[in-house]
Amino acid sequence: MRIGTLGNGLMAEALAGRWVEAGHDVMVGGRDPERAAELAKRIGAVAGSLMEAAAYGEVVLLAVPAEVAVEVAKLVPPGRTLIDCTNALDHRDFTLAHPATAEAISRAVPEVQVVKAFNLAADTVWRNPPAGLGVPICGDGGLDLVAELVQSVGCVPVTAGGLARAKLLEATAALAIGIWVGGGDVRGMFPALADAFGTVLPGQP
Ligand SMILES: NC(=O)c1ccc[n+]([C@@H]2O[C@H](COP(=O)([O-])OP(=O)(O)OC[C@H]3O[C@@H](n4cnc5c(N)ncnc54)[C@H](OP(=O)(O)O)[C@@H]3O)[C@@H](O)[C@H]2O)c1
Repeated sequence: MRIGTLGNGLMAEALAGRWVEAGHDVMVGGRDPERAAELAKRIGAVAGSLMEAAAYGEVVLLAVPAEVAVEVAKLVPPGRTLIDCTNALDHRDFTLAHPATAEAISRAVPEVQVVKAFNLAADTVWRNPPAGLGVPICGDGGLDLVAELVQSVGCVPVTAGGLARAKLLEATAALAIGIWVGGGDVRGMFPALADAFGTVLPGQP
């Protein structure tokens, strides 16, 4: 798959590095040609401007600060799939500074399939994820491509609904990060399906 990154920071390095290892063709896009070229060299990708990377990718990873996400996303041409991994966290109290980032991006680029993914864990996790780690993905299209890229980093895609549910994923990240930073372990909060509902699932007789 051809993938462009918008950003050459920690998330671009972690995810694009895994994708190159998995055999995908990646162009690292950055506003500073030297920084983009440095990362591309380190992970075995090619480098370009933000606009070049947006045009290159069948899938484009948006890995910039949330406050500039909508503006930078406008570089992505119609028909592409954009992965929004941004977190609009207010680091003072771990609330959301800008609610519904993915939906705001989608409104700005309505002909691009926006998929929220990879926002729940840190770049250090994506570099070497634990076996079986689930990655929730929310979007109205492009989910097959993103699911393949989740598998390419060694994780398990978890379809979590349409783009209207991305705001829940954004809020979940804020909650989880606040708990982690406070020294808590979020893994203990979510039992397995059978333990959550017993043998009878909601909506089933
Ligand atoms: N790191 C994590 O563990 C983690 C986990 C989940 C989600 N996220 C989210 O992922 C996104 C990226 O995080 P990160 O850790 O990769 O950040 P980072 O290492 O600080 O990298 C940010 C990237 O955005 C670029 N950038 C900043 N302002 C820009 C602008 N106005 N126009 C174009 N590019 C701009 C930077 O370019 P320069 O290099 O030129 O400064 C850099 O390449 C954030 O929204 C963050 O909340 C991060």
